[in-house]
Amino acid sequence: MSDDPFGPRLVCGAAAEEDRALDSLRPTSLAEFVGQEEAKANLRVFIAAARQRGEALDHVLLHGHPGLGKTTLAHIIARELGVEVTATSGPVLERAGDLAAILTNLGPRDVLFVDEIHRLNHVVEEVLYPAMEDFHLDIVVGQGPSARTVKLNLEPFTLVGATTRAGLLTPPLRDRFGVQVRVDMYTPEELASIVGRSARLLGLDISPEGAAEIARRSRATPRVANRLLKRVRDFAQVEAAGHADLALCDYALGRLGVDQNGLDRLDRDLLSAIVQKFDGGPVGLSNLAAAVGEEAQTIEEVYEPYLIQQGLLKRTKAGRVATGRALELFGFTRRSERLF
Ligand SMILES: Nc1ncnc2c1ncn2[C@@H]1O[C@H](COP(=O)(O)OP(=O)(O)OP(=O)(O)O)[C@@H](O)[C@H]1O
Ligand SMILES: [Mg+2]
Repeated sequence: MSDDPFGPRLVCGAAAEEDRALDSLRPTSLAEFVGQEEAKANLRVFIAAARQRGEALDHVLLHGHPGLGKTTLAHIIARELGVEVTATSGPVLERAGDLAAILTNLGPRDVLFVDEIHRLNHVVEEVLYPAMEDFHLDIVVGQGPSARTVKLNLEPFTLVGATTRAGLLTPPLRDRFGVQVRVDMYTPEELASIVGRSARLLGLDISPEGAAEIARRSRATPRVANRLLKRVRDFAQVEAAGHADLALCDYALGRLGVDQNGLDRLDRDLLSAIVQKFDGGPVGLSNLAAAVGEEAQTIEEVYEPYLIQQGLLKRTKAGRVATGRALELFGFTRRSERLF
């Protein structure tokens, strides 16, 4: 049983703090989870089958860009299975013993959620292989010539791993996940429905046009939509008697630096740096990071996916390139000359 009534036993990872703040908006069942229809339909079958057989669900790998719902889905899977969830993350599991302690505490068919699973070190990863495959641990007892390996049996469990970088997972680890789910970006309609649901939970009176506007300008990402919605609620409360119509949403998004195309200040800085400082590209990621004063990893994982999806930026072997569409959007020509 979880001894923390407010959540899983261990919560770690970069987005954990923000996630806690957004916890109240988190869907708790597949029925409430908006979008990802194919993944949900398949998960429903796998969960029902495992429950009918009284077995642990096969291990699940969730991959997708930040803020698309991997952590949310992991908790939903445990809930729909009717089991406890223990949450941890790759970088927190430093030694084999850290993982062994968690694994030996799992109840039958429980879920172990490992966020950022691509950041597990290889020693810990090797402990995980037999645990995932045959539910046992090989523990070395003693030192030197008297050292021997003891085999410790575990309860059958489900490992749910989440990663923003599936490509960084070693093949032996990736292959041990029987269920692999790619979490995709959301359509504006799906996001509008998430915004509508969150507004109801927050008690905000928002018009359908207002919700659609936030959705359209939220980088196809629920976490961004919920964050913008919370700030829109502040503007509505203080400046519009609590009502968020299209005009108020548009005004608030403008105040938050989110433009008509849903780009924020750093998106614009990135694109204009490529165009103005690097003549449209190609430019290497580290140069780009230095030019805009942001971490390369954040640019790569958080900003670029949306710019690529929108056809504004391309990753090439030689570096990042601004597309013709980006040039048009900013009124630039490739020779770094402003048209207006
Ligand atoms: N399909 C969805 N329906 C409704 N709300 C969602 C959905 N997906 C995500 N959210 C909301 O978006 C927020 C972010 O989701 P979550 O923390 O699960 O993303 P993540 O993929 O784990 O991100 P990260 O890679 O940064 O850990 C959550 O607070 C949740 O409320
Ligand atoms: Mg997460």
